Amino acid sequence: MKFFIDTANLDDIREAKDLGILDGVTTNPSLMAKEGITGQDNIYKHYEKICNIVGDGDVSAEVIATDYEGMVREGKILASIHPTIVVKVPMIKEGVKAIRYFYDNEIRTNCTLVFSSGQAILAAKAGATYLSPFVGRVDDITWDGIALIQEISDIYNVQFFDTEILAASIRTPLHIVQAAKAGAHVVTCPLNCITGLLKHPLTDIGLAQFLADHRKANG
Ligand code: G3P
Repeated sequence: MKFFIDTANLDDIREAKDLGILDGVTTNPSLMAKEGITGQDNIYKHYEKICNIVGDGDVSAEVIATDYEGMVREGKILASIHPTIVVKVPMIKEGVKAIRYFYDNEIRTNCTLVFSSGQAILAAKAGATYLSPFVGRVDDITWDGIALIQEISDIYNVQFFDTEILAASIRTPLHIVQAAKAGAHVVTCPLNCITGLLKHPLTDIGLAQFLADHRKANG
């Protein structure tokens, strides 16, 4: 399973990269705004900075347009910024058309704002490279986000779809484990969810004991 970090914060991206487990980055307009990145030129430059930190890994950059022509125009510009850019397109009718256009023109896509298996089938049929079901936001309305990942995974497996399931809106370390079990190919989440995987009290107790025994024996 691949690990993407869901942020536009360069320090967090560097820290995840330094950990040695980073496979890519996802962003969205809210995350870019959170970092204070505004104006089209600055946004494009920021994507370039992210790509340069990540290296070979994929970087999702989202279109703002909601009409087919606009998405195609914007997607082509985004894809020209760096070879690792994946154009993020919302799951709307015009988005499905745009995903097909990008597929036919060898531009990779991440279909975002996915909340149902029907949408997942449509995105795969259109040729999306990645599919982003929003686990946390499904949980927010007391439906089951991980069950959605499982259902999409089952469908993609029996249908031999190539689209990779990118579990998004991952909010906890437990979500990562559950998404892995349910068949997600990728998870994207904030840095603290990834580092949260490290935590176990028995690891801390065990390490303290080993070091104490070493000190006792070695003075
Ligand atoms: O990748 C989509 C993600 O950023 C949404 O996460 O926590 O805003 O629901 P969240």
